[in-house]
Amino acid sequence: MSLQPRKILVTSALPYANGPIHLGHMLEYIQTDIWVRFQKMRGEQCTYVCADDAHGTAIMLKAEQMGITPEQLIEEVNAEHQRDFADFLIQFDNYYSTHSEENRVLSEYIYKACRDRGYIATREITQAFDPEKKLFLADRFIKGTCPRCKAEDQYGDNCEACGATYSPTELINPRSAISGATPVEAQSTHYFFKLPEFTEFLKEWTRSGTLQPQIANKLAEWLDAGLQEWDISRDAPYFGFEIPDAPGKYFYVWLDAPIGYMASFKNLCSRRADLNFDDYWNANSEAELYHFIGKDIVNFHALFWPALLKCSGFRTPTGVFAHGFVTVNGKKMSKSRGTFIKARTYLEHLDPEYLRYYFAAKLSADVDDLDLNLEDFANRVNADLVGKLVNIASRCAGFVKKAGGRLSKTCAEPELVQRFIDAGDTIARYYEQREFGKAIRDIMALADTANQYIADKAPWKLAKEEGREQEVLDICSVGLNLFRQLITYLAPVVPAMAQKAELYLNVRLGWHERTQLLLDHEVNEFSPLLTRVDMKQVEAMVEASKEAPAAPQVSSELSKDPVADEIEFDDFAKVDLRVVRIANAEHVEGADKLLRLTLDLGGETRNVFAGIKSAYQPEQLIGKLTVMVANLKPRKMKFGVSEGMVLAAGPGGKDLWILEPHEGAQPGMRIR
Ligand code: 2FM
Ligand code: ZN
Repeated sequence: MSLQPRKILVTSALPYANGPIHLGHMLEYIQTDIWVRFQKMRGEQCTYVCADDAHGTAIMLKAEQMGITPEQLIEEVNAEHQRDFADFLIQFDNYYSTHSEENRVLSEYIYKACRDRGYIATREITQAFDPEKKLFLADRFIKGTCPRCKAEDQYGDNCEACGATYSPTELINPRSAISGATPVEAQSTHYFFKLPEFTEFLKEWTRSGTLQPQIANKLAEWLDAGLQEWDISRDAPYFGFEIPDAPGKYFYVWLDAPIGYMASFKNLCSRRADLNFDDYWNANSEAELYHFIGKDIVNFHALFWPALLKCSGFRTPTGVFAHGFVTVNGKKMSKSRGTFIKARTYLEHLDPEYLRYYFAAKLSADVDDLDLNLEDFANRVNADLVGKLVNIASRCAGFVKKAGGRLSKTCAEPELVQRFIDAGDTIARYYEQREFGKAIRDIMALADTANQYIADKAPWKLAKEEGREQEVLDICSVGLNLFRQLITYLAPVVPAMAQKAELYLNVRLGWHERTQLLLDHEVNEFSPLLTRVDMKQVEAMVEASKEAPAAPQVSSELSKDPVADEIEFDDFAKVDLRVVRIANAEHVEGADKLLRLTLDLGGETRNVFAGIKSAYQPEQLIGKLTVMVANLKPRKMKFGVSEGMVLAAGPGGKDLWILEPHEGAQPGMRIR
């Protein structure tokens, strides 16, 4: 143990404040939390901060859509995120928001420092503009038909159907995804950070052991190809911080997001006497600073961020650690397959420690994607945690209790226990290097050894023989000492289980304290540490995560079929909408599109011809409830008189759905 604890500041990427946390996010927070808990357990001064990434156009538009202010939205989402993290046992020292005074002050400070040193440029740029919303449009807010494969409703920079990349000006029939209006081109002055001036610095920094080799290689390619100046401004309306000397211009969300790491730490310093902001952020700071991130945001963290820090006189990160993406059952997470699993949905069905363990068992220090194979997940958790680890304690606990609940005075297998203690040094190295999978592999190999020891000694047999009580207690005392080592090593991964084990073993689990054996030591009542994963719970979680494929964007539907002229309320009140039961449905001879429906209004029946043949077989409809316009003047048609109209939605063809009221609707009820 070093005399002075290391000072370590750790961050995970700041999640956007406009959506829920899902298991893809969770990988990163679990990875970081395990690393931080490990450091704390070893007595280091390790501080873990995070925040919501609260700025940007997407958040502004989402709030508008919900009819609330962005401030309200980010507050609600922040509370939701914090609940999800807490329930996954993610232990931040501070969870803050980038929409904070500390962040405003630091962002302005960094900007002004860069400006005063001559590293900010301004110039006019031409950009797509939504003439209705009076808003400049980023590529992802422009949609249209792919110029290559002609797929409709594709984003402004790439086609999801054929994979083509292009500029929004190449889209056929481009429209604003926000209003549906056709974008026009407009000019505006933008502010740029002169990133290319930091090329030499970055070439050195990216090669100084701060990055994983794969990442450093990728960055070397970008650095060799030449960097571009980085556009750090956005025009009003924008939810963010206004640039101090440029009214109507705002800092681009990605400028103040990483500064949010500093701001969250600054906020924590204001209530923690043992932490000093400058100690951690001054250019000559000796504290360690690590950012855990996803591989998709490496450019922001390993190019822009160190250059900004350097330029404004702060220290640069000690390490930036990127991880890969989560796939589920070998495929990208998907809403229709039910594998786009929100943190909350997971928690409603499964114990968070299952996932913490599974991710840990599969994590390494590289950037490969990690597959959550749901069957393997259940098998592995059951085999390792329940079958191997918990088993050691539960096999021994009963005998120790019988013997009075106190462990033997001497250790019957000192060498075996010492072997377990010694193994902790390698395991610690693995944790330090983020090779969690290797740590778990070693821990489980030790668990096998412990189980083998107990099986060989078979205390249950000896217990039946008279006069061998001490031997039984000695074996089980060794068993529990081995278990104590294992749960100490696993504590960063399964902290709640470790806490239960602490209660039972009546000892505080610490990395350094582990070398003191539990001899002549009283243990408490044993209670189950973890239950098995039931595949049914996993299936229920997947079922609960299933969502129908996204409906076509309202704006694009609207642009094809614009809203009709406004009507007065009295016009609307004239329409009598009723719930009806489809008493009968049949084909109409000679009609291509029509079905003949007999509708029961709860007291009278109507004959209605409905153009829904392309979407329904008559027998599918019989017995269903639907909605009709009941006071439509009867209309004579080629096949007979139609006495009303049923309501349906959809683009047509097989995608046409009659409205199906439920939840207590009865034929004859009026719709208001
Ligand atoms: O990619 C994202 O989800 C961003 N919100 C991450 C920001 S990390 C940091 F720079 F703030
Ligand atoms: Zn295409």
